[in-house]
Parts: sequence; C-alpha cells; structure tokens
Amino acid sequence: MSGGSGGGEAALHPDVQEVLFSEERIAARVRELGATISRDYAGAEIHLVGVLKGAVVFAADLMRRLDVPVRLDFIAVSSYGVSSRSSGAVRLLKDLDENPAGRHLLLVEDIIDTGLTLQYLVATLRARGPASLRLCAFLDKPARRKVRVDADYVGFTVPDRFIVGYGLDYAGRYRHLPYVGVLKPSVYGG
Ligand code: IMP
Ligand code: MG
Repeated sequence: MSGGSGGGEAALHPDVQEVLFSEERIAARVRELGATISRDYAGAEIHLVGVLKGAVVFAADLMRRLDVPVRLDFIAVSSYGVSSRSSGAVRLLKDLDENPAGRHLLLVEDIIDTGLTLQYLVATLRARGPASLRLCAFLDKPARRKVRVDADYVGFTVPDRFIVGYGLDYAGRYRHLPYVGVLKPSVYGG
C-alpha cells in the first residue's frame, strides 16, 4: 500500500500475458461507437440496458459519448458452470427497474462468446414489447459461437483467448484494469 510511481503508465498486471487494446485505443473506439449510435437514434430516446456486471465499464463510457437522450437500466444474468466460461443455461438474477414496453432498448454487453446469454436476453426483452431492440457488444469472440447473434454494434473482434479488463473478469477479478488483455493460462490452470 505504498505510494504510486508518480504518474505515467500503470505497470502491466502480472497475470496478464499481453495487452490487446490499450486504454487510448478503447477510448477512441468507444467515441466512434457513440457517434454512430447517436446518428442512428437521432430524435429518439435510448433506454440503455447494461448487462451486469461485465458491461458496467463499457456502458458508463459509451453513454457519455451519446448525444441523444439516454435512460440507464441494468439487467443481470448468470450462466451455470465454472466461474467464468459459460455452460449454456441462463438464469435471470436481476430484472430491469423500468418497464421497457414502447422504449428503444439498446442492450449493452461486454462480450459475445457462445451467444447463449444474448440469445436469452433478446428473447426475454423482445417479449416485453419494446419499440425497438438493438445489441451493442464491446467485444465479439466469434470462434466459440454456438447460436447466431446479430449484434448491431461491436467494438472489437477478439481471438479465442481468455480476456480480462475493462469490465471483463476471471473469477470476479481484473474488471478494473483500464485495458483489455489476455489472461496468462497459468492463472486458470491452462
Ligand atoms: P456467452 O453466453 O457464451 O456469449 O457468454 C457471455 C458471457 O461469458 C460474457 O458476458 C462474459 O461474462 C463471459 N465471457 C465469455 N468469454 C469471456 C472472456 O474471454 N473473458 C471474460 N468473460 C468472458
Ligand atoms: Mg458477463
């Protein structure tokens, strides 16, 4: 708990093998996404639905790049299985606070992996009668897809590696890292 290095770049976390996207690169991409989404929703109000917990960092940054009216809501799901990779079955842990009927929902997720989480969320939210429903995923990992998911906006496509940072965790850790990195396989026994 001693003092920091006095500014400059934070050191790479020792459990991270490689940085895929730096803080600066992420900020530039989020700015682009915000501009595109603002254009697409001109004249409408976005009901932004962040998927807890992974999408919190992305949602917080993205919403500040939107120049249309935005309301913020959250939904939480859990997939059964080991601590981080998803197994298939999805369960709703926390529902929306506000009724989404008639609203323009923008579902914001951290990463599309198998696609099962978003498939479940899209089906669940569509059944509530929104005026529209679009998906925005910060990352897309197409290699492990099991079901088709059509994201309307994607930040970056990533290879089939275990990714942490900028909201993404392994066993609850590393969400606070300001960059996106590949976790060392030794950390998860790989
Ligand atoms: P899907 O249902 O397989 O698409 O899984 C989506 C969820 O799995 C994401 O919201 C993440 O919580 C988690 N996930 C998938 N791949 C990764 C990864 O590389 N790092 C961290 N979490 C991941
Ligand atoms: Mg998640």
